[in-house]
Amino acid sequence: MRAWMVMSGVVLWSAIACARGAKEGAVQVARPIASTEGAAAARPPAPRRVPPTPMKLDTLRREAVAEVMATIVGRENEPAGTVFKNVKLHKTMPAKEFVTMMDEQFGRGLGFNCTSCHMDNKDYASDARKDKIIAMQMIKMQRAIDAKYIAKVKELDDPRPKTTCVMCHRGAGHLTNEMDVPTAPVPQRKR
Ligand code: HEC
Ligand code: HEC
Repeated sequence: MRAWMVMSGVVLWSAIACARGAKEGAVQVARPIASTEGAAAARPPAPRRVPPTPMKLDTLRREAVAEVMATIVGRENEPAGTVFKNVKLHKTMPAKEFVTMMDEQFGRGLGFNCTSCHMDNKDYASDARKDKIIAMQMIKMQRAIDAKYIAKVKELDDPRPKTTCVMCHRGAGHLTNEMDVPTAPVPQRKR
């Protein structure tokens, strides 16, 4: 009789504690102010800024290249240093080759639009964008790698490839330090 009373007391107490816990839990759930659950569920998801796809970026850059090339008609093979206003590191490169390098190495190579490094108002000579300043130092770094290091590794076969933006960047501004784990078994040599 006594044991039964104690038992039911424990059961009752824990039932109350449980209900209170559930109530407290419910209070802690964050809900937007002045909106019912139904209304929140019906609302369309907030628009997110989706980064442009590599294909979209290619299209944007192709348009920019066509615009630039239209301004230098007849001078495509003259040195970039004389055709353009503020070229410091590729003065002798033919202008057309220079613009192609902008598109393929600097643009596609990093997954960038021209406006990642240049002003939106097409003032390509301006040095106002941070990524253009970084790119200038990357060019100098590449030249140092080629001249001071790769050229001095005697065991390498000739001709040595010149370091390019693509070799490191592979389509991204920020570089990854990881390789995908192979999904198929790595092929083994037959014995
Ligand atoms: C990663 C940064 C970067 C991207 C992306 C880039 N550029 Fe450049 N651009 C530079 C740098 C750095 C220079 C200066 C190079 C030098 O001094 O040799 C330059 C110079 C130029 C110039 C010469 C401007 C002048 O009057 O001196 C033109 C034109 C140009 N870029 C066009 C383009 C176009 C078109 C695109 C897109 C297809 C593009 N760039 C993408 C970094 C970039
Ligand atoms: C030897 C490897 C290497 C080469 C070659 C190289 N880069 Fe880089 N670059 C890096 C590293 C490492 C970073 C820093 C990445 C990070 O912050 O995650 C970087 C960062 C950058 C950034 C800043 C990106 C951002 O989103 O903040 C720009 C712009 C850039 N590089 C341009 C170039 C250009 C243009 C070339 C070719 C002329 C080039 N890089 C060649 C290694 C390289």
